[in-house]
Amino acid sequence: MDANTVDFIISSPGQTVRVGARIGELLRPGDLVCLHGDLGTGKTTLVQGMARGWGSPRAARSPSFLLVHEYKRADGMILFHLDAFRLRSGEFPGLEVEESLGRGAIVVEWPDRLSGFLPEDRVQVEMWWIDETRRNVRIESKGARSEEILRAFRKLAFGS
Ligand SMILES: Nc1ncnc2c1ncn2[C@@H]1O[C@H](COP(=O)(O)OP(=O)(O)OP(=O)(O)O)[C@@H](O)[C@H]1O
Ligand SMILES: [Mg+2]
Repeated sequence: MDANTVDFIISSPGQTVRVGARIGELLRPGDLVCLHGDLGTGKTTLVQGMARGWGSPRAARSPSFLLVHEYKRADGMILFHLDAFRLRSGEFPGLEVEESLGRGAIVVEWPDRLSGFLPEDRVQVEMWWIDETRRNVRIESKGARSEEILRAFRKLAFGS
């Protein structure tokens, strides 16, 4: 694996939450995380951990958009969680991306539904089902900022 990728196996939902928390604590306003993977692989479970790491485990529905949840932490910054599964390709995401990145970080499930709306520099997470409780996870950086996040994640999670 190269410097822009980490690959590992997760063996329980609790572990997925912990991995999510490690990612969440590294995020800053302006960051984007895209989650790929089939139905039920654990994307939303990972987001629960991300929200915890971000500093705000309680979700609120977006006042404006049905498919968006917001996790607002003490300093007012928001982790926007968008589940784009029900969007058709090319359809408006229901989220002002640039404006939201100024107010926090964004995590998107099913990001392919809105390619074109999202910046390139992103932490890309892919999850595959291995069996009932195990998932293969691959995290890739897609630009300078996401590379920084991945490097820090690697250190936090694996000490290297
Ligand atoms: N290692 C694991 N990591 C995450 N979830 C797991 C794991 N093992 C079992 N599960 C179970 O798999 C399910 C994952 O559901 P979750 O909603 O997180 O998936 P999802 O990828 O968001 O699905 P969707 O595409 O429908 O939004 C949960 O019921 C969870 O308990
Ligand atoms: Mg989900």
